[in-house]
Amino acid sequence: MQTVRAPATSANLGSGFDVFGVALDRPMDVVRVEKADRTSIEMSGVGSQYIPEDPDRNVVGAVAEALDAPARIRIDKGVRPSSGLGSSAASAAAAAVGLNALYDRGLSRSELVPIAAEGEAVVSGTAHSDNVAPALLGGFTVAREGAVTAVDASIPLVVCLPEIAVSTRDARDVVPDSASMADLVHTVGSAATLAVGMCRDDPELVGTGMDERVVTPARAELITGYETVREAALGSGATGVTVSGAGPAVIAPCGESDRRHVAAAMVDAFARVGVESRAYQTRVS
Ligand code: HSE
Repeated sequence: MQTVRAPATSANLGSGFDVFGVALDRPMDVVRVEKADRTSIEMSGVGSQYIPEDPDRNVVGAVAEALDAPARIRIDKGVRPSSGLGSSAASAAAAAVGLNALYDRGLSRSELVPIAAEGEAVVSGTAHSDNVAPALLGGFTVAREGAVTAVDASIPLVVCLPEIAVSTRDARDVVPDSASMADLVHTVGSAATLAVGMCRDDPELVGTGMDERVVTPARAELITGYETVREAALGSGATGVTVSGAGPAVIAPCGESDRRHVAAAMVDAFARVGVESRAYQTRVS
């Protein structure tokens, strides 16, 4: 038997739509795999009642098939589904690592990225790798046309998860089909700033580089109280704020000593608009 933990991830970070991703040090999924004649899946943990155990409809079923590695797979969810924190990617990445070891497939973590991304296609319709890449490789990742670059990074963050469900499919439906040249130039400037900030472990640059005017405003409409929470985070020390992944989690980098204050301000702001939430004081790791 193999037991593997895989972390929550945040992918986009505002300016890096479908490209940037980070691994967080919490929450996590725990996946256990044992050899079997055919694949079966058992779910437990947060939100597990909403996830199908049918291998044809679960991300890890696609991973087991891609690796030709039938197994009894038990998933203990720590990352809530429909959170914007790479819940399906955490399970897919952990299953890929566990099954690769169980069946001695000998694939590297980088080689497992497209295999875990097959699982993503089951839930979102697209085999995007911006969540599975950081879940497998850690740190800050850049996923571009099948190639992934990863760098170590350590940035303190607060992730605030409201009791709202936003499906990835719905959040992708609201993304505009086109953008102006001015918005394109702005996004490239922000993305470059964010990447430099990750390489320098600089929360100021990372926060500044999250600013983006095409995808984020459209998705913010799906999150009750987003503007209130954004202002509260910025007013209490966050260096930037954006939607985490497809949402509804909201992510805010900050200095190490500001995390507690930012977390409290974000939870309070959601409460003021009648939404319960939970804040994770975490970091890119
Ligand atoms: N990059 C994807 C999106 C991640 O934002 O739609 C989904 O979790």
